[in-house]
Amino acid sequence: MRIQTLRKENLQQILELQQLVVANLVDTELFYQDTPDYIEDLLVTKGVILGAFDDNNLVGYRGIKFCLNAKENLGKEIDIVESELDLVAHFDALVVHPNYRRQGIAHRLNIEALDLIKQRNKKHLFVKVSPKNTASLAMLAKLGMEIKKKIYPYEKNWERYLLYKNLEIP
Ligand SMILES: CC(C)(COP(=O)(O)OP(=O)(O)OC[C@H]1O[C@@H](n2cnc3c(N)ncnc32)[C@H](O)[C@@H]1OP(=O)(O)O)[C@@H](O)C(=O)NCCC(=O)NCCS
Repeated sequence: MRIQTLRKENLQQILELQQLVVANLVDTELFYQDTPDYIEDLLVTKGVILGAFDDNNLVGYRGIKFCLNAKENLGKEIDIVESELDLVAHFDALVVHPNYRRQGIAHRLNIEALDLIKQRNKKHLFVKVSPKNTASLAMLAKLGMEIKKKIYPYEKNWERYLLYKNLEIP
């Protein structure tokens, strides 16, 4: 398994994998499907997407968002001081191909993503997860992420837990 930073050329592979994962969800509320424009923005300007490859096949990816506008910055949800809102990063979408699950791929992507976020000198990490997504919640607990509150970030009124980790605390 090889992990590498994805580029605009990988957009089609990302969309195909997202489609497959969405088609296999037991409950559509578990995962918010991103638009091609949103993913392209994340790839090109607003963040990083790490991809896991088996040969040349993309079998998982983890998005990280670094460029956050004032409205979307989740630091505001738990009153991170104004002067530290620039030190916030978000975990964005994470998917693993159904045939490749429970092999530690998501965990590896998360560990590499954490390294990258620390290299960028970020201090506060946030992620939104459905309370029904027990696999994801267990995975994020392994990283030391803690549930802070419930939020309703989408137009669909889907419930999400907001999870947080202070990266300066080992
Ligand atoms: C959630 C998802 C990314 C996990 O990917 P994965 O590569 O299978 O996960 P890993 O093998 O790295 O497992 C890491 C940890 O997650 C937890 N986990 C993963 N799958 C789980 C499951 N089916 N049930 C319970 N816990 C699970 C475990 O704590 C696991 O650690 P362990 O193996 O030491 O017990 C994958 O199931 C997926 O793509 N789901 C659909 C999309 C989605 O829900 N994305 C996350 C949205 S926030």
